Amino acid sequence: MIIKVAEKAGFCFGVKRAVDMAVDFTAKNEKLYSYGQLIHNDQVTEKLESNGLIKTDDLSNLENQPVLIRSHGVGKEVYELETKQSLELIDCTCPFVKKVHRIVDEHYNKGYRIIIIGNKEHPEIIGINGWCENEGIIVSSPAELPTLDEGNYCVVAQTTLKIEIWTSVLEILKQSKGHFEFFNTICSATSERQEAVRKLAPTVDLMIVIGGYHSSNTRKLYEICKELCPETIHVEKKSELVMTNMKKYDIIGITAGASTPNWVIQEIIDFLKDLQ
Ligand code: F3S
Repeated sequence: MIIKVAEKAGFCFGVKRAVDMAVDFTAKNEKLYSYGQLIHNDQVTEKLESNGLIKTDDLSNLENQPVLIRSHGVGKEVYELETKQSLELIDCTCPFVKKVHRIVDEHYNKGYRIIIIGNKEHPEIIGINGWCENEGIIVSSPAELPTLDEGNYCVVAQTTLKIEIWTSVLEILKQSKGHFEFFNTICSATSERQEAVRKLAPTVDLMIVIGGYHSSNTRKLYEICKELCPETIHVEKKSELVMTNMKKYDIIGITAGASTPNWVIQEIIDFLKDLQ
C-alpha cells in the first residue's frame, strides 16, 4: 500500500494562530470563555475544554470576563460588549476574515449595499453580515441572486468559497444594473488545498479527507475529491476507519481540512502503515 499525503493538508495560518492563542491564554487565565466553537474541529476544542476553556453561546450574563473570539469572527455588536459588559475580548479572528470585516464596514458606511457570496448559516458569514447591520444580500449561487436596482454594491466572498461559484456569480452581476466593487476574499489557503487534491485524487484508489463534519473547507475538499476519485471518504478521526477494509486499496491519498491538527492526520497515517 502506498500512502500519498496532499501538499498543504491540515492547519492553515489562521487556525494555527487561533489555537496557539487559545492554548496560551487558557494557561494564563483561571477562567476563560470561548464565544462559540473556537475552530471547527471537535478533537481540538475538546482538548482545549479539558484544559479549562469554557465554551458559551450566550454572552449576555458575562461581565468582567476574558472571552476568546472564534477564528471565524463575529459581528460588530459583539465588540461593543467590551464597554457595555467590561468583557476582555481576546480576538482570535483570522486576519483574513478581519480584512473582510473592514471592507464591509467601510463600504457599508459609504452607502454601498453589501453582497456576500457564501453559506448564510455559516458563522463566518453571520459574522461578516454583522458589519453591515445584518442587511447583506447573502447568496450561495447565481440562482439565488435577486433582481438588483441601480446603486453601489460591494461584493465579498466567504473565505472558503469555491472559485467556480465566485466566478459564476460575478458573470451574472457584471450584466446587472448597478455599480459593483468586487473583492475576491477567498483565502489562498483554501484554494491551495483544493488545487493539491485536484492533482492527487485522480491518482489514488481511495481518498481519505480528514476534518470536522461542520468544517466548510473540509466538506468542499470532500466534494472535489469525490468528483475525481469515486472512492472518497470523509472521517473526523482514526476510529472511523477501523470498519473499512483498507487493505484492498493499493494507493491511498490523504488530505485534511484547514482546522485539522497534525496529530489527527499522523494517527491515521500510522494506522494505515500498521496495516501494511
Ligand atoms: Fe484564515 Fe484562510 Fe484559514 S481565512 S482561518 S487562513 S482558511
